[in-house]
Amino acid sequence: MNNASLQQRKEVAFARGQGTLTAAYIDRARNAELWDVEGKRYIDLGAGIAVVNTGHNHPKVQAAVQAQLERFSHTCVMVTPYASAVELAEKLIVAAPGNSPKKAIFVTTGAEAVENCVKIARAHTGRPGIIAFNGGFHGRTNLAMGLTGKVAPYKAGFGPFPGEIFHVPYPNAYHGVSEADSLAALNMLFTCDIEPTRVAAIIIEPVQGEGGFYAAPASFMQALRALCDQHGILLIADEIQTGFARTGKLFACEHSGVEPDLMTMAKGIAGGFPIAAVVGKAAIMDAPQPGGLGGTYGGSPLGCAAGLAVLEVIEEENLCQRANEIGAAIVARLTALQTKYPHKIGNVRNLGAMIAMELVNDGDVNRPDAATTKALVAEAAKNGLILLSCGIRSNVIRFLPALTIGDALIGEAMDLLEQSLDSLI
Ligand SMILES: Cc1ncc(COP(=O)(O)O)c(C=O)c1O
Repeated sequence: MNNASLQQRKEVAFARGQGTLTAAYIDRARNAELWDVEGKRYIDLGAGIAVVNTGHNHPKVQAAVQAQLERFSHTCVMVTPYASAVELAEKLIVAAPGNSPKKAIFVTTGAEAVENCVKIARAHTGRPGIIAFNGGFHGRTNLAMGLTGKVAPYKAGFGPFPGEIFHVPYPNAYHGVSEADSLAALNMLFTCDIEPTRVAAIIIEPVQGEGGFYAAPASFMQALRALCDQHGILLIADEIQTGFARTGKLFACEHSGVEPDLMTMAKGIAGGFPIAAVVGKAAIMDAPQPGGLGGTYGGSPLGCAAGLAVLEVIEEENLCQRANEIGAAIVARLTALQTKYPHKIGNVRNLGAMIAMELVNDGDVNRPDAATTKALVAEAAKNGLILLSCGIRSNVIRFLPALTIGDALIGEAMDLLEQSLDSLI
């Protein structure tokens, strides 16, 4: 078995829509390192797209899941529940930002969590409209696609999308969109497209993930909160990529002090086991009738066991603080690289360990360099470094290492990055 033959088989057996970023077929993984079927080792700066924040196979998460597997793997939490689901819900409703009493539901994927937020918001408010942001990413199911603000590859050819969804610009200082511009667009929407009394919710990623790792300023989040309160609109925070210590706080909303009405959680929640949640203000969460929410696998026992272990690891290993240290260490290296290649690296930014480097031509923010970005991901993989890209212009390298990664590995990864970039420029 080798990578090339497996990739050939994948191309025959898989539809191309479920593509391959790096044809390295993984045999085993530990913390922030992967080994493929040919024995080649990689440093993983993607963490399975922000999922294994506690590292691959964290011993505590592994032990919790193994112990659960010995007992049972599935009963369906809506049929015959189990204590771990209740315990995880209790912990998440306390951990979520803000002091209002909260409740939770469990589902299986991020997109499902997003869809359920919309269902709950509509059931509570009796209103249809949902406002989302350009460049936002909320998943690949039909409603989540409708909310997503990037056409290729997520929406192209897949319409029609659900109605009553509207998009406004996300504030993005580097690209010349101010907070005032975004707020003005919202007000214009209320004037031209939908009256605020017909809007159920505004959904926002506190830091856009797939869209390019742009953080909404705290003052913008606060302004959104005020606007929502003024019009009886619910504020939904999609924390699927930002959650579980990634940005230096357990949830990114904590940076602004804003309490969302509803929030999504997935990815980092359970160290790689497919579980997701909606957590929100209790009265809102209780709007749908019994049986209106849920799913066969929502809140699987393995996911709940892993989720409880992940929360313990985050606390015991101080991973919020570690996210900030990792962010500072990587940004220091990227800034040095920007000094070396000022015309190529247009911008370096981070919130905790959600770190990005934007590649441009001739230092011009309006001339995105998607080609070098793509080539860098490929070259880095050849050199044993897994990188992810993102951005509506496909010109951002995002760094999402496990928060358990050590300093030596960060240094080695940054050396590999520099070596890869050197060979392309
Ligand atoms: C912010 C955000 N929302 C929703 C999703 C969709 O999650 P999933 O792929 O688990 O459906 C993602 C996935 O990347 C995401 O980053």
